[in-house]
Amino acid sequence: MPVAAVQGGHAAAAVERDRHRLRTSNDPNDPSHPSSPSSPSRPDARLPHVLIPGCGRAYEARWLVEHGFAVEAIDFSPTAVAVAREQLGASHADIVREADFFDFTPAREIDWIYERTFFCALPPAMRPAYADRMADLLPRGGVLAGLFFVTHKPSGPPFGTSLDELHRLLDPAFECLREREVDDSMALFAGVERWLEWRRR
Ligand SMILES: C[S@@+](CC[C@H](N)C(=O)[O-])C[C@H]1O[C@@H](n2cnc3c(N)ncnc32)[C@H](O)[C@@H]1O
Repeated sequence: MPVAAVQGGHAAAAVERDRHRLRTSNDPNDPSHPSSPSSPSRPDARLPHVLIPGCGRAYEARWLVEHGFAVEAIDFSPTAVAVAREQLGASHADIVREADFFDFTPAREIDWIYERTFFCALPPAMRPAYADRMADLLPRGGVLAGLFFVTHKPSGPPFGTSLDELHRLLDPAFECLREREVDDSMALFAGVERWLEWRRR
């Protein structure tokens, strides 16, 4: 898939359309979980580059690699990194590394940052820094897309947010391309999760 396609948010939209498979692939014991990786696990300059910040177990990483993305998954927790590597297996373990989202150098220019329960894990006071860092990491046309926890929940984690707050934070550097309700969230996020796509201005 050409990088230009990713930059229009098309790749992110494709993931959203294929959401059911993405979610079932979250369970490595599920028979539908992809099990025969065919894409290279090292960042490949020919492939669109996806960053997964605060990747936790990095379940989506394998799915993204198998769909033709060069994935870089980071988490600042050594335990999360170890679990993610174990989950991914030897063929893809090296796409995960221990790093602080606010202070690391990406392997190469990022086309898409995949958000999933990272924003809501951060203390709300860090949200302006999150927005600034996203804007720094993405080149013009790059996409921040994924699942946001949109509900009134001031205590956390997960901490809730509102669409108004997200627009206040992200509008200065991003154009919101799409905003959709999600109908197959995990129980904790049922009815309060939104798929959002933001393109770097
Ligand atoms: C709620 S978990 C989400 C995991 C994964 N994204 C998912 O959807 O299952 C949030 C993760 O963000 C990580 N994290 C929090 N702050 C971070 C930072 N500044 N840099 C890197 N990882 C961070 C935590 O260690 C944790 O694994």
